[in-house]
Amino acid sequence: MDTALLEKTASELVAAGKGILAADESNGTMSSRLEAAGIESSVEARRTYRTNLFETNGYESAISGVILFDETIRQKMADGTSVPAALIARGVHPGIKVDTGAKELAHHDGEKITEGLDGLRERCAEYFSMGARFAKWRAVIAIGEGMPSAANISTNAHALARYAAICQEQGLVPIIEPEVLMSGDHDAQRCYDVSAEILEATFIACSIQGVHLPGALLKPNMIIAGIDCAEQISREEVAQMTVDCLTANVPPNLAGVVFLSGGQSDEDATAHLNLMNSMDIEHPWQLSYSYGRALLANALKSWAADDENSARHSQEVFNHRAKMNSLARSGDWSANLEN
Ligand code: 13P
Repeated sequence: MDTALLEKTASELVAAGKGILAADESNGTMSSRLEAAGIESSVEARRTYRTNLFETNGYESAISGVILFDETIRQKMADGTSVPAALIARGVHPGIKVDTGAKELAHHDGEKITEGLDGLRERCAEYFSMGARFAKWRAVIAIGEGMPSAANISTNAHALARYAAICQEQGLVPIIEPEVLMSGDHDAQRCYDVSAEILEATFIACSIQGVHLPGALLKPNMIIAGIDCAEQISREEVAQMTVDCLTANVPPNLAGVVFLSGGQSDEDATAHLNLMNSMDIEHPWQLSYSYGRALLANALKSWAADDENSARHSQEVFNHRAKMNSLARSGDWSANLEN
């Protein structure tokens, strides 16, 4: 394992003022998002939408890495350059989603286990040769009656740790993503308790598998009440509970924390991160972003307008959100910058 390379990549991914763009929606997810915006999905439609974003002027000051889907890492920009080469030319690390999706967990209705370990070593080696320097694997944990089960927590923690070890062996920084979903009517304390449990299990599994934490990133959910819960908590409470949960359950030698947005509004995702980075207490890890929807939902709407300015508007909307989140890295964002 090349620990020096892993640590260098990980620290570049969470460099001051920078975070990650998650543009790795699977073909199924990307197609439903395009179709919801009124665009027929195809290989070419996905390519033109995404490569337009990757050509945005100056976004590299706020984006250190872009997570790609297998289809995209093999595609070309309009000028014929390969997508990973175009990102590298801007100083942006290409990343790659390497899990093959969350599947039904046997004997546990409503729960999922993320698959993709078979052949992972060979796929990582190929992605590294294509320029990728980091990877993502997403485990999905639902809260509900009797959920998550012990089986759900332990199988996902084990898979995340095995994935992380294989990535590191192949020179890729693993983003370890145990996502506790926002769906449901549970309160914020329940989200805290479940998140604490999955984080603890994940880091125990990482320790058993020998994962080198200074060369790894964690992509957690924030601590938020379920979307159907009548008692939502304030932005300040979200920030405080999230930092408390991470402090209690995340080893201090991890390179960084890059949050998912998970269905939060654009502004909530930015405001929560900003509050966490404004606190007086020092965190042992960088607190950054690896947002998908909170960086791109409005950029997709602008793209879908399909007029002569839609490409430029989509880039402007994406660039604005990237800059807002960049400011949140240092607690320098404020709501009046949104207009
Ligand atoms: P969201 O920010 O839209 O949750 O996506 C991040 C991600 O990569 C989920 O795996």
